Amino acid sequence: MAITLELIILFLVSFFPIPSLSISDAFVYGGCSALKYVPNSPYESNLNSLLTSLVNSATYSAYNKFTITGSSPNDVVYGLFQCRGDLAMPDCATCVARSVSQIGSMCRQTAGAAIQLEGCFVKYDNTSFIGVEDKTVVLHKCAPSIGYDTDLMNRRDAVLRSLGGSGGPFRVGGSEDVQGMAQCVEDLSAGECQDCLKEAIGRLKSDCGGAVYGDMFLAKCYARFSTSGAHAYAKSNHGNSHSDGEKTFAIIIGLLAGVALVIIFLTFLKKVFGGHAK
Ligand SMILES: *[C@@H]1O[C@H](CO)[C@@H](O)[C@H](O)[C@H]1NC(C)=O
Repeated sequence: MAITLELIILFLVSFFPIPSLSISDAFVYGGCSALKYVPNSPYESNLNSLLTSLVNSATYSAYNKFTITGSSPNDVVYGLFQCRGDLAMPDCATCVARSVSQIGSMCRQTAGAAIQLEGCFVKYDNTSFIGVEDKTVVLHKCAPSIGYDTDLMNRRDAVLRSLGGSGGPFRVGGSEDVQGMAQCVEDLSAGECQDCLKEAIGRLKSDCGGAVYGDMFLAKCYARFSTSGAHAYAKSNHGNSHSDGEKTFAIIIGLLAGVALVIIFLTFLKKVFGGHAK
């Protein structure tokens, strides 16, 4: 019964997209591997366990990694999630649940997938990528140049320098109207995180010349900056974490109600069709 319930919840999470609650659920990028797994295979059931573990774990942690092993080495699935360092716990869980839901509709039966929302990153694959530094550029976005403003560029460079100079997997910096943010996936060591961010920050500087905002997402870290709230991510949503918590609670109640409905419906079907079969 526990497993059935788990699968039903995963089913609900996968097929009924959770409505976007806050800026932290906004889509940034997503991708699916070209390889497909066999439906109803041990790999699929391992993947379902993995996704359930990720969603559960995000209710108490900002980062976690899992390796689900099957009877055969071909069925191993690796996965992790990383919430942005300033995200409150209910928002982290909501963000990971929403990522898993989007992966479900975006990447049907693919052996691997990755998704980045504003507030969290989720990735799984059947080849190990956990603890491996990866500086591949996944997404880079620069606002149109506003012309060369030396003063603005100086403040931007100072913010980027401060991001590069501070420590830890999550970094923020600001100078007057310029805001900066950087995040590593916490499977990287402190040294690897530093190296990855150095690359991201260097590319931001060289690629986003006179831009009022820039995003550089590498496979295991990202750095961003924005000016004068040109970019929504800089806005803190600390102020409404209370109402977000209430909404999360409402969603959980909604999911439980959904599970109850599915069980009632299945019981009903069993009665109707069970009756005919006699
Ligand atoms: C990953 O899955 C694909 C598709 O099922 C398979 O071809 C490939 O060999 C798998 N890789 C590993 C390392 O198991």
